[in-house]
Amino acid sequence: MNAIESVLIENRVFAPNAVAAAAARISGMSAYDALCAEAERDFEGFWERLARANLVWSKPFTKVLDESNAPFYKWFEDGELNASANCLDKHMGTPVEHKTAVIFEADDGAVTRTSYRELLSRVSQFANALLADGIGKGDRVLIYMPMTLEGVIAMQACARIGATHSVVFGGFSAKALHERIIDAGAVAVITANYQRRGGRELPLKAIVDEGLAMGGCETIKTVFVYQRTANPCNMVAGRDKTFAEALAGQSDNCPALAVGAEHPLFVLYTSGSTGKPKGVQHSTGGYLLWAKLTMDWTFDLQPSDVFWCTADIGWITGHSYVAYGPLAAGATQIIYEGVPTFPNAGRFWQMIERHQCTIFYTAPTAIRSLIKAAESDANVHPARSNLGSLRILGSVGEPINPEAWMWYYRNVGGERCPIVDTFWQTETGGHMITPLPGATPLVPGSCTLPLPGIMAAIVDEAGHDIANGTGGLLVVKRPWPSMIRTIWNDPERFKKAYFPTEMGGKLYLAGDGAVRSADRGYFRITGRIDDVLNVSGHRLGTMEIESALVSHTVLVAEAAVVGRPDDLTGEAVCAFVVLKGARPTGDAAAAMAKELRDWVAKEIGPLAKPKDIRFAENLPKTRSGKIMRRLLRSVAKGEAVTQDTSTLENPAILDQLGQAW
Ligand code: WTA
Repeated sequence: MNAIESVLIENRVFAPNAVAAAAARISGMSAYDALCAEAERDFEGFWERLARANLVWSKPFTKVLDESNAPFYKWFEDGELNASANCLDKHMGTPVEHKTAVIFEADDGAVTRTSYRELLSRVSQFANALLADGIGKGDRVLIYMPMTLEGVIAMQACARIGATHSVVFGGFSAKALHERIIDAGAVAVITANYQRRGGRELPLKAIVDEGLAMGGCETIKTVFVYQRTANPCNMVAGRDKTFAEALAGQSDNCPALAVGAEHPLFVLYTSGSTGKPKGVQHSTGGYLLWAKLTMDWTFDLQPSDVFWCTADIGWITGHSYVAYGPLAAGATQIIYEGVPTFPNAGRFWQMIERHQCTIFYTAPTAIRSLIKAAESDANVHPARSNLGSLRILGSVGEPINPEAWMWYYRNVGGERCPIVDTFWQTETGGHMITPLPGATPLVPGSCTLPLPGIMAAIVDEAGHDIANGTGGLLVVKRPWPSMIRTIWNDPERFKKAYFPTEMGGKLYLAGDGAVRSADRGYFRITGRIDDVLNVSGHRLGTMEIESALVSHTVLVAEAAVVGRPDDLTGEAVCAFVVLKGARPTGDAAAAMAKELRDWVAKEIGPLAKPKDIRFAENLPKTRSGKIMRRLLRSVAKGEAVTQDTSTLENPAILDQLGQAW
């Protein structure tokens, strides 16, 4: 597709389907405008009304927002509630009680259905097992689980007793796990012997053992092990318990503990601009309110919907739109254990048909890889499946290019289903800028307009508003209930990273560049403005990867990591490495690159492996010794360097960097 064509496509507008819009919760732009106006007119009153209507409070709050210690905002602070009770108990005695909560499809295709009633029993029983182990309110529990119902049960059980969970994605390494266990001061780990993905069994418990053996994890008293497969794993006497052992004799009745609205429901680690991942801390009340409400607004959730969010519980999307939002909204949802390409790349489409999915929410990177597969094999094309049940499509995690948007719209949505391109972040807890399926005219590649109550804007470096049509920094001008509360163990970093004083200290800085269209004021996200990369929708810090590379003290003298655009993964990791020995070429360079990639996989996880590694005798630096990353980005893209290189200490190095080995 050439550039002209994609510009044409971006100018297309798709009006909401009139019939669907009429039945939607927010039916039309005037309904959207009315909600926005309400939030403008009476900000606290707006949030108060929604918080009372959408959550069950054990003790109602009297105060909506406390700004006295900004930017450490507090919402509904004197109210008490329990997140698990708001996802499960609240449905008992209603038509939802016996409705299917989760349709679980295993990697091998086996399907199980669990009702809300059964899920409540299983969560309660697991919560009792945690209590019996001495785990209680405020304790941190690390969850390192496969994408199974048991992962959600573990999260809900923590919430039920007021323990704060920290889920680590199953693709992270022992080292990454170790770092998070220590930072969180976790008292227990919940894991599985193995995870099943793409027909293979991958170890989880062995990685936990390796992480714990790195030392300094004395806070960990218990490791709970879910036996996902028949394969045995090492069990440490006195520390490790199988789920069966932990659950034996435990009652399936466990009253949910009411906690303050600001009680930390979870800490989720994500990448930032420094080498150390940040523990994003979320609240109970404000977070849950938005997880529930965005199910209703963004997905227009109706009682008969079958909702499917393909994200893993190790990411924020799997927290808000698998573990909490759908349950709080009383939805039937699909949880899938495996990968989109097993046993073939038609798996998603076949599953949509099999389970009559109505709302499908996935990442652009998955769409792009399935487009590629469908184009080369008609058997895995969405046209092979009956996708007539679908009514809404969603996209999350990275900008969706207009070509992929159009393909998704036509081939998956049959030109009938609106696509909600949801912009948000680990820190925002839930959707921020997104179309509403019954209201917003869609423009491919644009996340359109902020949700009511979300005061998003684009400003310059000093925090001043800038005109539509001009690119700038995406900010949010007022706090919102589901926002990050702090960085675990590092409140100073929280203030600096998100509320920089150079911009007045009151604006939430998202870390993304954005531009609003001149005609509609629609937002388009142009990408991160910091040292964060987005590879296949996964957030990675360039500094994190650099630290991993230079920690190979035998081989590596210096490293610089930048991103470059990639058709499939959005961005790709590109590393420039100066070795301690001579600069390798040919086969030696290939072997060395493999060694370093494996090293990064061990340090962080396979998801962080650099796609390109280039060896040089030096890195381009200013005379004051700063690595010129802008220059490296051009080199990584294969572009001619147009930047001023006069301040460069060693201009000749550019030629060498440009050569792939
Ligand atoms: C990017 C994922 C464009 C953005 C929910 C953000 C997006 C980062 C979109 C957060 C979107 C997410 N359009 N870019 N619809 N959604 N992003 O914390 O750069 O894993 O800052 O949260 O992903 O990634 P995170």
